[in-house]
Amino acid sequence: MINKLSTDEVKQQVLRVFQEIIVDPNVSFEVVDIDVHETKSITMGNTINVMWVKVLANNRPVVMGQFGGLAPNGLYGLFKSYVEGYLKGMYEGLLGKRIRFYIDVFDSRPRDYDMKDYLKVLPRKEAIRTGIVKPDSPIDKVMNEYSLEQVLIIGGDVSAPVPGVLHAAENIVRKQLPNNILDLFCGTGAVSKAILLAHTCDVTCVDLFTAKYARQTLAPFKNVNIQEHDVFSYKVRGFYDLIFADPFDAEAMKFACNFVPEILSKCNLFVMSHGYSENKYWNFLVHQELKKNFAYVKTYSSEGVSMSMCSQKVLNNTGTSA
Ligand SMILES: C[S@@+](CC[C@H](N)C(=O)[O-])C[C@H]1O[C@@H](n2cnc3c(N)ncnc32)[C@H](O)[C@@H]1O
Repeated sequence: MINKLSTDEVKQQVLRVFQEIIVDPNVSFEVVDIDVHETKSITMGNTINVMWVKVLANNRPVVMGQFGGLAPNGLYGLFKSYVEGYLKGMYEGLLGKRIRFYIDVFDSRPRDYDMKDYLKVLPRKEAIRTGIVKPDSPIDKVMNEYSLEQVLIIGGDVSAPVPGVLHAAENIVRKQLPNNILDLFCGTGAVSKAILLAHTCDVTCVDLFTAKYARQTLAPFKNVNIQEHDVFSYKVRGFYDLIFADPFDAEAMKFACNFVPEILSKCNLFVMSHGYSENKYWNFLVHQELKKNFAYVKTYSSEGVSMSMCSQKVLNNTGTSA
């Protein structure tokens, strides 16, 4: 019965579902092979129909959902499983038989590739015109709120601006009134702009790929220093009242493990974002890692994004000294 399924039709469906998740037009993928099998289930003893689908992509991590920031609906790392589950549900409904899909994603590129080739900054109008950002959506509203003109995308994901991150940054500086700030993984400079609109202070921004966009966003402000540097090899000079970090979720753990010890004695307060609040286990692991170094770690949700506020001193709930 499974042979009645046209492989061309399945191919179209696989591509359609991936296309719905992956927004970057430069990420391309094709179905290069489909194999149909009947296999005996060793747990159930019955025969299961299996479709092996081989996908060739020019960026495997993006197509797998492993690369980027806030994957929608908790799908971080699970794009392939999502498409498999979707097709299973659809074809079981259509055929009235049990069927399973296995999708293998292969990368057409050499193994070494550069993240900057997959990061895109779009003007806001372009993001709206192409439907990547919908008018009146939370991102559109936050862009109005802070007069932001750039959208950062990577693969399946609009990475910035993120309302919960910007509002958290603004709320913290309104309470802490810091004299100076280090904004790590500054992206388009949206976090620093939200901070500077609320409170005047010296700001140092670091990003390996987007310094020129941050310069545009922050051009109207004084006392801003933007550095194009790899955060993982960045040496923090001086002392900051606040260090704010907004890495891609996928790099939050690496950052917490490898970089946090570098900044322990270099700030009063350290705040980082590390993923969608619904990715509870991931956020728990990052929290545990931060607890190894800081006396105080408060992990909380800001409009669906998990953030941690950390200090060497024990703080009260508002983030000031207890
Ligand atoms: C989630 S985005 C930050 C968005 C930013 N807060 C904003 O509002 O625009 C993560 C940023 O990390 C940067 N990035 C990724 N790896 C990096 C690295 N090793 N060193 C420095 N920046 C890096 C990317 O260029 C991207 O801008």
